[in-house]
Amino acid sequence: MATPMTQRPHDLVVWGATGVVGKLICEHLARSYTGKLRWAMAGRSQERLAAVRQEMSKTNPACKDVPILCGDVGDQASVDAVVKVSRVVLSTTGPYALMGTPVVDACVRMRTHYCDLTGELPWVRKMHRRYHEEATRSQVKIVNSCGFDSVPSDIGTLLIADYMIKHLGKPLASVELLNGQAYGFVSKGTLSSIYGAVINVPKEEKAANNDPYCLNPPNSKRGPDKPDGFWISYSKAAQAWTAPFIMGPYNTRVVRRTNALLGNFYGDGFRYSERQRVPGPIVGALVSSLFIIFGLLALFPPLKPVWKNLLPRLGGKPTEDTMKNGFWKMQLIGQSAPDSSGKATTVVAQLSDKRDAGYNSTARMILETGLCLLEDDKLKQAGLATGGCLTPASSCGLMLADRLNHADFTFKISTVDGKPI
Ligand SMILES: NC(=O)c1ccc[n+]([C@@H]2O[C@H](COP(=O)([O-])OP(=O)(O)OC[C@H]3O[C@@H](n4cnc5c(N)ncnc54)[C@H](OP(=O)(O)O)[C@@H]3O)[C@@H](O)[C@H]2O)c1
Repeated sequence: MATPMTQRPHDLVVWGATGVVGKLICEHLARSYTGKLRWAMAGRSQERLAAVRQEMSKTNPACKDVPILCGDVGDQASVDAVVKVSRVVLSTTGPYALMGTPVVDACVRMRTHYCDLTGELPWVRKMHRRYHEEATRSQVKIVNSCGFDSVPSDIGTLLIADYMIKHLGKPLASVELLNGQAYGFVSKGTLSSIYGAVINVPKEEKAANNDPYCLNPPNSKRGPDKPDGFWISYSKAAQAWTAPFIMGPYNTRVVRRTNALLGNFYGDGFRYSERQRVPGPIVGALVSSLFIIFGLLALFPPLKPVWKNLLPRLGGKPTEDTMKNGFWKMQLIGQSAPDSSGKATTVVAQLSDKRDAGYNSTARMILETGLCLLEDDKLKQAGLATGGCLTPASSCGLMLADRLNHADFTFKISTVDGKPI
C-alpha cells in the first residue's frame, strides 16, 4: 500500500545525483531551494553521494543535512524503497532503455510523480504501452523528456496555441520550430541514448519509429503531418534556409502527443515541424548530407559495435567555458488558418537561455518541471491531466512557462504579424 503523498518525508528526490546532470540539478537546488523544499539525493553509491553533498555544502552550508538514499536499478526492492518516500522523483539514470524501467515501474506502483530526460523513442513507446492506463487510473504523472528535449518544443508550441486560440480567437494551422544558435556540448549520456534510440532499435519497432504520430495514444486522431524531411528547405514564414534538426524526429512526436492528450486543443488539422536554421543553401546542403550519411551508416548492422563505442566518446562534459558562455536560442512561428479574406495571422515566440542546452539548462528544466508537479491542486484546477504517461505541456501547461521565466529562461510571445507585443 503506497503512503499518501502528503505523508512522505521528501518532496523531491534526484535519482542519479552523482551523474553530470544530476549534480547540476543538486546545484540549482542548493542555490535556490534548500531550506524551502524537502529534497534528497539518490544513487547507487553512498560514498559518491556523500562527496556530492559535501560539494553542495560549499554552495549552501544547509546542504550538509540533505538526506542520502541508496538504490541500484538492478535491485528493484532498493528502487522501491527510494521511490516510496518521495512525492516526485527526477530520474537522470540513462540510457533509459537500459536503466530507466525499474524507476518508472516503482513510481507507478508507489504513486510517485516522475520526470526524466529521455529522447529514446522505442523505450518511451514501451513505457506508454505498459503504464499509461495504470498511471491514469492511479493518478500518477509519468512525464518523459523534461530537458532540452522536449520542453522548449512542447511548452513553446503550447504558448503559441494558447495565444492564437484563446487570446486572438483564431484557429491554429501550424507551428514551425527553428533551432537557432547555441553554445555548449552534447553530453555523453545523450549520445549513448542516441545509440539506443536510432541504432540499436528492435526490429519490430523500426517501422513505428517512422510514423509521425507514433507517440499518440491508441485510437487518438491523427493529423496531416508526413514523415520528417531530410533535405534543405526554405521557410517562407521565417525567410530562412533550414536543414534537419537532430532532435526533430523525437520532439515533433512529443508535441503531437500533447495535442492528442489535450483533446486536440491545437486543432485536428494542426501541423508541426522542427528544423535547424542555417546561413544559406550550401551550408544547409552540407548539414543535410551529413544527416543522410549518418542515417545510412546507422542502419548498416556491421557498424553497430563501432557506433556503440564511438558515440559516447564524442560527447563532452561541462567546462568552465561552456558553464560561463553557454546559451541557446529558438524561434517558433505559428500560423492561423486563413480568414475569409485569405489572410493568415502569424504569432512568433522567442525561447532562449543563457546556459548551455545539454547540461545546465536541461538540469534547470527538469527541476522546474518536477517542482511544477508538486502543485497537484493548481494543475488540477487548470484542467490538466491528473495522471498517465504525459508530456511536459500536457502535465504542467503554461504554469511551467511561468516557472521557467522566473528561473531566468525566456519563453515569450514576441510578435503578432511582425508587430512586437
Ligand atoms: N537533451 C536532453 O534532454 C538531455 C540532456 C542531457 C542528458 N540527457 C539524458 O540524461 C541522462 C543522464 O545524462 P548524464 O550525462 O548526467 O549521465 P551520467 O553522467 O552518466 O549519469 C548517470 C547516472 O546514473 C547513475 N547510475 C548508473 N548506473 C546505475 C545503477 N545501476 N543504479 C542506479 N544509478 C545508476 C550514475 O551513478 P554512478 O555515479 O554511481 O555511476 C549517475 O548518477 C542520459 O540518458 C542522457 O541522454 C538528456
